[in-house]
Amino acid sequence: MTAIRLRNVTLRRGGRVVLDALDLDLAERRIGLIGANGSGKSSLVRLFNGLLAADEGEVEVHGLKASEKASELPRKVGFIFQNPDHQIIFPTVAEEVAFSLEQSGLPRREALKAAVPALARFGREHWAERPVHALSEGEKQFLCIIAVLVMEPAVVVLDEPFSSLDLITRRRLEGLIATLPQQVITIAHELDAFSVYDRVLWLDGGRVRLDGAPGEVVGAYRDWAEAQAAEQALPGDTLLEARP
Ligand SMILES: Nc1ncnc2c1ncn2[C@@H]1O[C@H](COP(=O)(O)OP(=O)(O)O)[C@@H](O)[C@H]1O
Ligand SMILES: [Mg+2]
Repeated sequence: MTAIRLRNVTLRRGGRVVLDALDLDLAERRIGLIGANGSGKSSLVRLFNGLLAADEGEVEVHGLKASEKASELPRKVGFIFQNPDHQIIFPTVAEEVAFSLEQSGLPRREALKAAVPALARFGREHWAERPVHALSEGEKQFLCIIAVLVMEPAVVVLDEPFSSLDLITRRRLEGLIATLPQQVITIAHELDAFSVYDRVLWLDGGRVRLDGAPGEVVGAYRDWAEAQAAEQALPGDTLLEARP
């Protein structure tokens, strides 16, 4: 079964067309989404878990139509945002994980009890009582991933997860992503991360400009981006270049 299916999906935000009549079948286990700022990447993945609703067309996730079952989508599609501080609500790690367990149906008291074993599954039971603010950026990101995974979603979406991570933490996160049994859809500007992916889509102005194997799509996007940058070089850059 195709995990995510879009038929003629158009999305408008602030009166502008942000996604333009998209037809997509997303079935591969590892899918990358690339494109310039404002090309519609975040808007697209927000359709998958009901954070945004299409103005036209239909989004279907594991057989659930977004137009009919939007409230059930967050349980199918787990979302990890760029900034962990936008995701984390509670003061301690255990409370944050307990909240996720509550979202997936456990009563509050049981959820609090189940939080430590859930953390143990990821080798982080010793984090349980830690205040979230005492975690490093990478640790917070990892907590967000744990909080999403305990809900056992069918699809995991990561929207620019690497942008505030140092290279070591980033490689660890990539390693963790590689072990996930779920379908993973990752938005990133760190293009080398996609070399192990099954498929990469390049979004441009709300349309798919190229869709295929990572080498091909990333290469074409890189060439295009470099050409754009050269064309739109700022006056200051020209001055710098002219220096002996
Ligand atoms: N809250 C919003 N209200 C109105 N327009 C928005 C909002 N968020 C994003 N947009 C617009 O939607 C377009 C796509 O944005 P986005 O999906 O965030 O792109 P990307 O993730 O590729 O940078 C942009 O033109 C952006 O200005
Ligand atoms: Mg974005």
